Amino acid sequence: MIEKIQQIRSKALKCSVEIHKSNSVYVVSHIDADGLTSAGIIGKALERAGIDHSIHFVKQLDEIEIEAIANQNPELAIFTDLGSGMIESLNSHGINSVISDHHQPRGELEHHLNPHLFGFNGSYELSGSGMTYMLANALGDNRDLADLAIVGAIGDLQHLKKGHLTGINRYILEEGVKEGSLHYEKDIMLFGKQTRPVFKLLQFASDPYLPGLTGNEDACIGFLHDLGIRFSGDERWRRWIDLEQNDKQKVVSALVQYCLRSGLPPYKIERLIGEVYLLMKEKEGTEMRDASEYSTLLNATARYGHADIGLAVCMGDRGKAYESARQLLSEHRQNLVNGLMFVKENGITELNNLQYFDAGSNIMETIVGIIAGMSTSIVGNRSLPIIAFADSKEGVKVSARGTQDLIRKGLNLSEAMAVTTAEIGGAGGGHDIAAGATIPFNVKEEFLQKLDSVIGEQLRKK
Ligand code: C5P
Ligand code: C5P
Ligand code: C5P
Ligand code: ZN
Repeated sequence: MIEKIQQIRSKALKCSVEIHKSNSVYVVSHIDADGLTSAGIIGKALERAGIDHSIHFVKQLDEIEIEAIANQNPELAIFTDLGSGMIESLNSHGINSVISDHHQPRGELEHHLNPHLFGFNGSYELSGSGMTYMLANALGDNRDLADLAIVGAIGDLQHLKKGHLTGINRYILEEGVKEGSLHYEKDIMLFGKQTRPVFKLLQFASDPYLPGLTGNEDACIGFLHDLGIRFSGDERWRRWIDLEQNDKQKVVSALVQYCLRSGLPPYKIERLIGEVYLLMKEKEGTEMRDASEYSTLLNATARYGHADIGLAVCMGDRGKAYESARQLLSEHRQNLVNGLMFVKENGITELNNLQYFDAGSNIMETIVGIIAGMSTSIVGNRSLPIIAFADSKEGVKVSARGTQDLIRKGLNLSEAMAVTTAEIGGAGGGHDIAAGATIPFNVKEEFLQKLDSVIGEQLRKK
């Protein structure tokens, strides 16, 4: 482990030498929590190093975006949380590039940082923000940015594989703990512990889905009421962080009992408790205090075309940008709820080796992947990967999500997307467990048939 980290450090140092040679740097990053935190980290590091730079966000680094970047003729471009799948195209456009990414790499590049190149799995051992944290610490001492690196990893759900962060993520976490910016502990895994009334944690629970509670406000309030948990002194609903330790324990054991009685399988019930990550420099009771809430706040900006707002929050804005982000967050939550309702009402179709739904224009293409991931715990069959379609300007957006079990059986969604789009048209990639693509209009059926057979082959091989 230490040896491999040393190798990454020395490669990061080479990249930093290349960066120091430039008078001005053109940063390109991805429009999600990991991409925003990556941009925040490299932005701070460049600022501190006195290197002139500008930061740009793209939905996907495709041929059109690469052409647009080439037309800017940047002295040096740094790609964070994307780029590893597009090296050939970057090279053929003659773009002088440093890539700091964690998606499955294709192609050769000198200044390329990616966990896969050092024997780590980029879908759970290091995120784009973590890779960029390593690069930032080659540019100078930027260890105070470990908290942002962890927010990016949680945004990409890298903790879910083992129920806690592992690999280089863990190394960065411990560095942040030492620096005093991070803290981790075991706690309930439901979303909103810092900011939402306790009953809302139950009401919006999606993983695990709590039959009879999820989606039913009255039932959730009743459940807590029976445990004697309701208002604080000022007649306001208490948040999770307002509860005494023994009340928290009471809720957790009542929930476990409830899930057992409802017949939930043990592996799902186990997911109620896990490691949670707190940002100690942030104020208690704000989204930024909890890595999961922070990452969702960031997704609520960038996935709706407001990456500038999310980036400002990453850079420390706790005024105007933060207020705008909170506004966007409440819309994002509503969109997630509506999206899940759409899936529930319209159902999921099963083929031999996958299941899918087509959101058409009912779910935005930038959040359809999040909804696909959330929907498996509600309606889907966990023994098949889930594929979602949504209309986009450029074609049809595809999002795919798998499970750890399926990965063990040979599933690699990134590979499957690449193979299938190579044949049917379009472009795609990502990770073994979560991948995406954009395909031409009118090839959905053909795409599904091909993907079904590619996934079938993957699952048969092992
Ligand atoms: O761009 P990209 O790397 O950011 O996104 C990774 C995606 O993989 C995220 O949308 C995340 O939700 C998804 N993921 C998942 N399940 C996992 C790990 C990641 O759905 N176990
Ligand atoms: O949006 P993001 O992919 O970061 O969400 C991470 C997880 O947080 C989701 O998979 C979901 O389980 C949970 N979440 C939630 N309620 C929200 C937003 C996110 O339960 N409003
Ligand atoms: O968009 P979605 O959340 O489904 O993306 C899942 C993963 O696939 C992300 O890591 C994303 O960067 C990747 N992806 C890709 N090429 C695409 C679409 C998504 O590499 N055309
Ligand atoms: Zn990422």
